[in-house]
Amino acid sequence: MTSSRVLTGITTSGTPHLGNYVGSIRPSVRASLAPGVESFYFLADYHALIKIDDPARIQRSTLEIAASWLAAGLDPNRVAFYRQSDIPEIPELSWILTCMSAKGMLNRAHAYKASVDKNLAAQADPDADISAGLFMYPVLMAADIVLFNAHKVPVGRDQVQHIEMARDIAQRFNHTYGEQFVLPEALIEESVATLPGLDGRKMSKSYDNTIPLFTPKAQLRKLIAGILTDSRAPGEAKDTEGSALFQIYQAFASEAETAALRQAYADGIAWGDAKQILFERIDKEVAPMRDAYQRYMDNPGEVEDILQAGAIKARKIATPFIAQLRHAVGLRNLRAQATQKSAKAAKAALPVFKQYRETTGKFHFKLVDAQGRLLLESAGFDAPKDAGQAIARLQAEGISSLGNLQPAEGASLDDITQALEALQNAA
Ligand code: TRP
Repeated sequence: MTSSRVLTGITTSGTPHLGNYVGSIRPSVRASLAPGVESFYFLADYHALIKIDDPARIQRSTLEIAASWLAAGLDPNRVAFYRQSDIPEIPELSWILTCMSAKGMLNRAHAYKASVDKNLAAQADPDADISAGLFMYPVLMAADIVLFNAHKVPVGRDQVQHIEMARDIAQRFNHTYGEQFVLPEALIEESVATLPGLDGRKMSKSYDNTIPLFTPKAQLRKLIAGILTDSRAPGEAKDTEGSALFQIYQAFASEAETAALRQAYADGIAWGDAKQILFERIDKEVAPMRDAYQRYMDNPGEVEDILQAGAIKARKIATPFIAQLRHAVGLRNLRAQATQKSAKAAKAALPVFKQYRETTGKFHFKLVDAQGRLLLESAGFDAPKDAGQAIARLQAEGISSLGNLQPAEGASLDDITQALEALQNAA
């Protein structure tokens, strides 16, 4: 494998917002353009089932996320862009890996532990409302990754533990069944700050403080107007430190633009004017993509075709690999058993050297042909090592190293030569 493989999944549980764009979509699309990298991006809809039991929402989110990535410039011809549930090898591998995963390790997964802790704090049963799916989440994610032997997995900090678990599971598998998997590494983009949301906390669906990436222009303006600021009046100097508005601006603006806004803060820009600047800057980047997004949203069949083509591409790798993995663990075609047996039988039908000890205490060997006929019997050696060396010499040098040994009764030098050759050919 010459190129390096980068893979990441996006859970189809919501509508992409500016935080997703800055933290994941934009850097991923840029990275996918780098030479020498094979990229895999997939819609993690099996993972979505863990949190969401509303079918329409999963379907809608799948379309919205796919449309967002495509609108942001992801080129499905350059990368493998597919939907997790179109790859049956993933759940199949997930079961195989489940059997390689320590339950104690899964007990320690942050997401699961947080749910248990919440129950405990509420004095509820520790397992209340916790599905086995949540518990197994890291194993499914490991299957996503190692099925494609990804080297690097770009994720947010909250996912690093899952990548470490994927490594751990892959390592265990390799140890038990032989080297099959690349051990993946998390790739955390240090330069990508997490974007604050409307209320200043991290922009996240769970805080209900997001700005949807492709919200209509008027709505974008309205949401930006709602970003929390302090009560400093126009003309009063503003603090960039801790200003959500400033941080969001920084994620979109050039260094020069950022410096200019910093100066404006110091000069006492009115919050309304600062918000207008932010709106214009974001809209400048988003507007050209918004049209493409809308086109994909209006043509879901086109997106479906793109994902189907992506699945074919991904399965070109997954299908032969799962066959290899099935074999490795012993899920095998029974005809293979017959082949193995006949290989064994062929092996049994070879001449053999047998070593033994006589009642005299001396060590001997004999050479017996495939049919069990005695061809050669050695004199006695004082140590088993000496007998072993004589055998090794015979195998390496042939009958020239026989010395004064004679063929056994009824055997010829030719028989011995043939037997030695047969052994050499089989080695
Ligand atoms: N769990 C990831 C998240 O919520 C999504 C995901 C699923 C993923 N499978 C993956 C990410 C494999 C990277 C690799 O963000």
